[in-house]
Amino acid sequence: MNKRILANDGLVEEAQKYLKQQGFVIETEKRDEDDLLSEIGQFDALLVRSATKVTRKLLEAGVKNGGKLKIVGRGGVGTDNIDLEAAKELGVIVKFAPNGNTNATAEHALGLMFAIARKVPMAHHTLMSGTWHKKRFLGVELFGKTLGIIGCGRIGQALAAKAGALGMKVIGYDMYRSIDAPLEYMDSIPELLKKADFVSLHCGGADPVINTEELKLMKETAFLINASRGKNVAEDALYEALKTSQIAGAALDCYETEPKREGLPFVNKLQELDNIVMSAHLGASTRNAGIRTGMEIAEVVTAYLRRGDYGNCVNVGETVLDEGADVYTIFITHDDKPGMFGKFGTAMGEMGVNIRENNSRKLGDHVQTVYMVHSQPTEEVRTALASIEGVIRVSI
Ligand SMILES: NC(=O)c1ccc[n+]([C@@H]2O[C@H](COP(=O)([O-])OP(=O)(O)OC[C@H]3O[C@@H](n4cnc5c(N)ncnc54)[C@H](O)[C@@H]3O)[C@@H](O)[C@H]2O)c1
Repeated sequence: MNKRILANDGLVEEAQKYLKQQGFVIETEKRDEDDLLSEIGQFDALLVRSATKVTRKLLEAGVKNGGKLKIVGRGGVGTDNIDLEAAKELGVIVKFAPNGNTNATAEHALGLMFAIARKVPMAHHTLMSGTWHKKRFLGVELFGKTLGIIGCGRIGQALAAKAGALGMKVIGYDMYRSIDAPLEYMDSIPELLKKADFVSLHCGGADPVINTEELKLMKETAFLINASRGKNVAEDALYEALKTSQIAGAALDCYETEPKREGLPFVNKLQELDNIVMSAHLGASTRNAGIRTGMEIAEVVTAYLRRGDYGNCVNVGETVLDEGADVYTIFITHDDKPGMFGKFGTAMGEMGVNIRENNSRKLGDHVQTVYMVHSQPTEEVRTALASIEGVIRVSI
């Protein structure tokens, strides 16, 4: 029987087509909470974005009484709407699709930098209201300025490459340094804040990375950009810094509190100010990003349902190496006939070897299998495996 996938927050047509080609039955009609609870057990996979809340209750409904739910796929990065612990306890894998939004968000951050540096939205407003103003909108150029990026992961590095190409000097701070990031790493956030003309946040998380102390370290001429998470900036502190011209301006895509639905009112003290540019969490809002993210989640969910691939998992390690314990390998060349794995498992089990994974491929007329185990394989183990009928070679 074909496996069934429910995309409860919608899915781009390209990804639906891909899943159908892979032999899945895909449904995209949105279920409300009650319908979801009663139907979820019929689906092998649940795909969501941010709207559907994947609670413990929903996950339990997905697995109890023979429920088929095996995997939840989140199109995008944040998994705040998914109870990861409950999923882990119940044997439901959670995967995400973090790459599809990268370019769109990096471009949006760059757009916000241009917007605040050249005051384009302010000029637009005055013209739309029928008044010609030129002198009040004297801007600054990005060329030759220093961009300081806090959080140099996917989006931070993508922005760094674009800014470098525009002639900006790019510096960055991250706890983890990547050897080929197109920027110069600073040793601390204060060091970065003192040097940067533009500070752009791409660290994510729920901590305020920019608060009163940090704003005091920024140049009077500097601009703050936040297309990361609303909570990364303490808005009261930013309000004071902008109101007293402690920094030159800010451009924000994310807010401490955001309306839950399209069309709801948006009220924020920062709206009083004229040295700020705001967009409504639009970082990932491009057609391309939607397609890339939809395709990415479709592919990684397919990889799990089809071949037990753990790539892009967020509630278990992507590989056994991520589990923290030591891992050793045993290489076995053997006949391709039923029962071989059972014999290997029995032999290793009797010698107290705990198997964590095995990867196996057809190799000419034979099969090559690599076992990953948690204890150093001994010569005794090697000899026992080599003596099994149908085994050609064992190497440790
Ligand atoms: N505005 C939008 O619409 C939009 C769209 C996509 C992603 N985002 C946000 O962008 C963030 C970054 O996305 P990404 O794909 O680049 O994630 P990522 O995981 O690739 O990169 C985040 C980086 O930040 C670093 N980091 C974490 N805390 C830090 C701290 N306190 N100081 C310095 N560095 C820190 C991490 O080590 C990591 O390298 C996401 O967390 C998400 O919240 C926003």
